[in-house]
This record gives sequence, structure tokens and C-alpha cells, in this order.
Amino acid sequence: MTRATVIDVLYLVAATTFLIALKGLGSPRRARQGNVVAAIGMAIAVGATFFYQSTPGHSLGNIGLMMLGMVIGTVVAVPAARLVQMTAMPQLVAIFNGVGGGAAALVSITELIAQRSEGAHPAIYVSIEVLLGVLIGTVSFSGSAIAYAKLQELMTGRPVTYPAQQVINALFGVAALASMVLVVSTGNTLWLWVLLAIAAVLGVAFVLPIGGADVPVLISLLNSFTGLAVAASGFTLHSTVLIVAGTLVGASGILLTRLMSKAMGRSLANVLFSAFGSATPSATGAGGAAERPVRSGTPDDIGVLLAYAEKVAIIPGYGLAVAQAQHTVRELADELEKRGVEVFYAIHPVAGRMPGHMNVLLAEANVPYEKLLEMDEANSELSTCDVALVVGANDTVNPAAVDDSTSPIFGMPIIHADLASNVVFLKRSMRPGFAGIENELLYNPKTILLFGDAKDTLTKLVASVTAH
Ligand code: TAP
Repeated sequence: MTRATVIDVLYLVAATTFLIALKGLGSPRRARQGNVVAAIGMAIAVGATFFYQSTPGHSLGNIGLMMLGMVIGTVVAVPAARLVQMTAMPQLVAIFNGVGGGAAALVSITELIAQRSEGAHPAIYVSIEVLLGVLIGTVSFSGSAIAYAKLQELMTGRPVTYPAQQVINALFGVAALASMVLVVSTGNTLWLWVLLAIAAVLGVAFVLPIGGADVPVLISLLNSFTGLAVAASGFTLHSTVLIVAGTLVGASGILLTRLMSKAMGRSLANVLFSAFGSATPSATGAGGAAERPVRSGTPDDIGVLLAYAEKVAIIPGYGLAVAQAQHTVRELADELEKRGVEVFYAIHPVAGRMPGHMNVLLAEANVPYEKLLEMDEANSELSTCDVALVVGANDTVNPAAVDDSTSPIFGMPIIHADLASNVVFLKRSMRPGFAGIENELLYNPKTILLFGDAKDTLTKLVASVTAH
């Protein structure tokens, strides 16, 4: 077997592990294994690349520089990934994704310059795939940098809008395509730098009007762009493993983007172009919230209600992550189960601020997977529950999504907490959730509110349940 064949076989093994990994990532139970399988596959692909010869007898150059890059990358990325707070995970994904897109763009740029300096006249389709790598990779890089800045609160998280924004963005897009045509038709690399600059501005302009809380959906889309840029570099470098890996990232990114938009009851176009979240809560009607009466309870009232219930649904949301109350909620569930109360967690697909947010949080507290019911299954159980305990969720239980066609969240599937005999909300104030709209369920006669940070109120509930 020749060296090239061995390397191709290793690349095939790596590509297969990526598929197995994706399958594993589809379920919380196997996600860890999936990650390990992908990491092994990636190590095989990187290792094999060091033995790659572009033509027989012509080995890779600059091995020292590559090793240096890998050491720097490892030193920066390992502590960043290990130390990151769960709530800051979307930023980390944004930055990792951005550097991936940037790397793919750099590969395409060096390849194009190398072709020109060797006086080669590549076929038009080869130039186009290189230029697409530059365009998509750079948009992904600069867009991810703005997404990071929004999530890290280095800039306003609100949509940044200005007149004729979409027209101006479309003009940037046309200018980028025109510079691609000029690179190909004139062969002048000056147009490559123009393309690079326009693509960087386009990435920024594309992300500015997207509100901070929609950014996780955007990151998933940018992730898909990075995959496409990597696949384009794969064509340029004749690397099958890059083509396969890039296409998998591109396809899974777009599927995840669609799933997230659908679970939010919004079209992708609405997420990208509607500047959702630019209205202030008072402008959307939540300002009058404080004047309407609500029923609030003490930890003891609610502790008794829970302790003597037969079946309780815990509905977690973004506030659980903010309060970092996942361990305390599990303690409460354990306490209730000790008393013979049946407890399950109702998981909305977009509860929190990133895909799988609640699953990851609850897994951290070792909540058994079988206790987590997906939305449809949870909804079919809720009418048999004595209490729906809403811990830091709001939009995902808001009945306006079902019965108010004028609501911005109309059409979003929700968890029907209102079907339970009693609804308890743990939240700090009457402030609305991410969508900035009032929640009628807070005023429902069967609802009781317990105000305070969720970790604090849950701790009091554990004490009260234990005492009864
Ligand atoms: P939200 O509707 O955002 O509501 C969160 C609630 O938590 C708020 O009412 C807030 O009220 C409460 N809260 C915050 N900190 C708290 C704390 N320390 N202790 C107790 N309560 C606290 O949350 P949700 O129901 O999870 O809905 C998620 C929203 O995000 C949806 O609109 C969804 O479309 C959107 N979104 C989700 C994703 C993904 S992928 N998950 C991505 C983008 C957007 P107080 O301030 O009064 O405490």
C-alpha cells in the first residue's frame, strides 16, 4: 500500500468517526462519548496530515511553524474551554467558530497567492471555490467577533439599526461578488484584498441588527458558514477529509439553525432581519405589569403545596442558569421523591439561551436523563400534575404564543404549565423574559408567585418540604 493510500484510509476513518460522533451528539446520554469519538477522529486526521505529500517525494514544509501554531492554540483553547462558565458557553462557541472561519479564509488566500506567484492559470471553478472560501470564512470571522462582543457585553446586546440597513447590506453583498468577478477576470490580487475588506464589513453589518438573545441562532448559522468555507478549502487543497468535515458542519449548522427558529415559532428571516428585541419592555406592554394584582406566596405556603402533591412538573428556564440553581432544584426534587411525590422536568427546546441549555445544566447536577421529558411528552402529562413549578422560565410557558395572534411570540410551541392544577413561578420580579412581553399566566387565579433569586427560593423550599 502506498503512503497516499494509507493517508486516504486514515482520512476515511476520521470522516467515519465524525459521523458516529454526530449520531452520539444527538442524545444527552451519548453526547460525551460522541465528543470523545470526534476528538479521536480529529487527532487521526491531523496526525495523518503530517505525513501527507502533495506530490510523491514532496513532503510538507514549515512543520516547525505548524507545531508552534498547534502549541499556541492548545495553550489558549484548553484553559478557555475548561474554565468557561456554562452561561458563557455561547461566546466560547462564537469565538472558536470565528477562528475556524478565519483559518479557512487564510488557507484560501495563501493558496490563491501561491497559484498567482507560480504563474498558474487555474480553471475558473478553482478560483471561484478559493474566493468563496475567502468570502464565507471572512464573513464568519468578523460576524462571530461581533456576536462574541454582544454576548460578552463588550457592546450593546440590542439590535443596532439604521435607515436602509438591509439595502446597504445587499450593496455590500453585490460589491463582494463584483470583486470576486474582478479577481477572476483581471488576475490582479489587489481585488482579493478588496474582497477581504468588504467581506469583513459584511460580516459586521450582517450581525449588528441581530439582538443579543437571538445571537445563539446566528452563531449556529455562522457555524454553518464556517463549515462551507472549510469545505471550499478542502476542494482547493484536494483534501477529502476537509470536504467531508466542512460539509457535515455546514449541514448540521443549518439544520440546527432551522430547528432553533422553528422552536421559537419564528422564521429564520425573522430572526436575521427583524431586529427582534429592539422594542423596550414597556413599549410592548410589560410596563403596566406592576399595577395589576398577582397572588404571591411564602416559601412555607408553597413548600406545603409541593410536599402534599402527588405529581409535580418542574419547568426550568433561563433564570435557572442565571441563578446557577441546578443543584438546588435537584435537591428539591430528591426531597419530594423521598416523600413519594412523582417529579419530572419539562424541557422546552429553546428554554435558556442556547440549544440544550437546560439538559446541560441539569446533567451537571446529575439529574437522571429519564426524568427530562421533551415538550410534547411533558404537555401530555401536565394535566395530571398537581403543581407546575416554573423555575426562571417565562416565554416558554407564555399562553400568548397560542391565544394572542398579535403577540410577537405567536406560533411558538409552549409548555402548557396552565394545564396543571396549580402553577408556581419562581422569579425575582414582574420583569418579562427575553421576548419582552407580558405573561398572562402570572395573573391566572391558579398561579402563585414566589419572588427572589431562584437559588435562594429553592433553598427555602427544600427546607420547608423537609420540615413537613
Ligand atoms: P425567558 O423567557 O427569557 O425568562 C427568563 C425568566 O427568568 C425571566 O422572567 C426572569 O424574571 C427570570 N430570572 C432571571 N434570572 C433569575 C434568577 N436569578 N432567579 C429567578 N428567576 C430569574 O426564559 P425562557 O422561558 O427560558 O425562554 C427562553 C427565551 O429565549 C425564549 O424567548 C427563546 O425564544 C429565547 N431564545 C432561546 C434560545 C435558545 S437556543 N435556547 C436562543 C435565542 C433566544 P426576573 O427578571 O423577574 O427574575
